[in-house]
This record gives sequence, C-alpha cells and structure tokens, in this order.
Amino acid sequence: MEKIIIAIDGFSACGKSTLAKALAKELGYSYIDTGAMYRAVTLYFIRTHTDYTNPEAVQAALEKIHVQFKNIDQKNTTFLNGENVEHDIRQMYVSNMVSPVAAISAVRRALVKLQQVMGNDKGIVMDGRDIGTVVFPNAELKIFLTADSEVRAARRYKEYQDKNQVVDIETIKKNLAERDRIDSTRADSPLKCAEDAVVLDNSNMTQTEQLQVALDLTNQKLKTILA
Ligand code: CDP
Repeated sequence: MEKIIIAIDGFSACGKSTLAKALAKELGYSYIDTGAMYRAVTLYFIRTHTDYTNPEAVQAALEKIHVQFKNIDQKNTTFLNGENVEHDIRQMYVSNMVSPVAAISAVRRALVKLQQVMGNDKGIVMDGRDIGTVVFPNAELKIFLTADSEVRAARRYKEYQDKNQVVDIETIKKNLAERDRIDSTRADSPLKCAEDAVVLDNSNMTQTEQLQVALDLTNQKLKTILA
C-alpha cells in the first residue's frame, strides 16, 4: 500500500493534534506532534535557566537535548533526555515561553532536521506550524486548520478542566493571541498557509466530521497517486 506524508498546520489550539492523532490511527500511520518538540526544548531552557538570547548558550543547550516520542498506554508521549515530560510541557509556564524559543533559528534547524528524519519512511501525519511550508514542502497532502478564536480558547479551557487544572479563560485567550502573533510574524518559517494546502475551518465541526473530511482528502490523494 502506497504511503504518504500528511502535513497539518494551523493556529494555536485549533485542534490540529486531535485531528492528526485520529487520522494517523485510522490510516495506521505514525503521528508526530512537532509542537511537543518545541515545548520540550522550552522546558529544558526554563529548567536550566538557559539565556535564549545568547546564541552560544542556546547552541550548548541544544547539544544536550534529546527529544523522543514513546507509545505509553496507547498514547504518544514526549520524552526529554529519557524523562516523561508530557504533563510538564503542557503547563502554562511553558506555553508562555514556547513561541519566543521557537522563533530562534538554531532551535528550528535542530528540530526540523529531526522531523525530516522521522518522516523518511512516509506513512506519517505531522502537525505544527511550518510542516507544509518548510519541513515537508513536498508532502502529498497539506491541511491548514483554522477555527474561530473564541472557539479555540473554549476548547483549550475544556482541555485544562478535563485534566483538573485551573487556568482562567482570559489567560488562555491572551496566550493564544500572543503565540499566534509571534508564530505568524517571526522571520524564520512563520506560520502561514502553504499555497497548495486545503483550508479547513473546524469551528462548527465535530471531531468525527473533521476526521471524515481529512479521510476523504487522503483517499482522493491516494487514488490520484495510484492512478
Ligand atoms: O497545541 P497548541 O496548538 O497550543 O501548540 P503546539 O502545537 O503545542 O505548539 C507550541 C508552539 O510551538 C507554537 O505556538 C509555536 O511557537 C511552536 N511551533 C513551531 O514553531 N513550529 C512547529 N512546527 C510546531 C510548533
């Protein structure tokens, strides 16, 4: 069976990882959450008090960072230097630092290289900000996900509630807006829709509906490839 690369990009908290995970499961593909990789690097910088404005300090830190994914209890789980950091990287103190760290070219170079190796054998669904534009410009299918900003904030709020964590909605809104601003305006690989991406606004879609749309797009693509 022919395998392809599926790139899912879009703004913060618009459901990229939910869609990417479900799509990968349906297709029997691997799922790579590139945001988790930027979050893991950010967590390392915070813990080690790395001055991210100092290029030498950033380089030295990057050489000590090893990010991996492991399947734990059927869940894609992020490891930083052998430690399960899946919980820590989702905390607000990491969300508040991740976009400035992800704007650093040396950080991007290191992680993009790793992501390209992960996609070597195809059969992968990767979500992020620059997957269709920079990491895999030749990805067979590119989806650019968007959703209304109020809907996105409400979804992220619910995620925290489901994990019994207290974060107020205004803090979430501010964080999402600030990350969108930094991610879209940075000089290196800004978040933007690839010219050949399919734009999908999921503000009024259920998870099942968005999965169905993505599956249909995948099947159409596979048909044209095999034709
Ligand atoms: O889950 P959420 O949409 O809130 O964010 P994420 O996918 O975990 O990504 C966290 C941050 O990492 C983003 O706000 C970007 O600053 C950065 N990122 C990036 O620059 N490039 C990627 N391919 C993925 C994430």
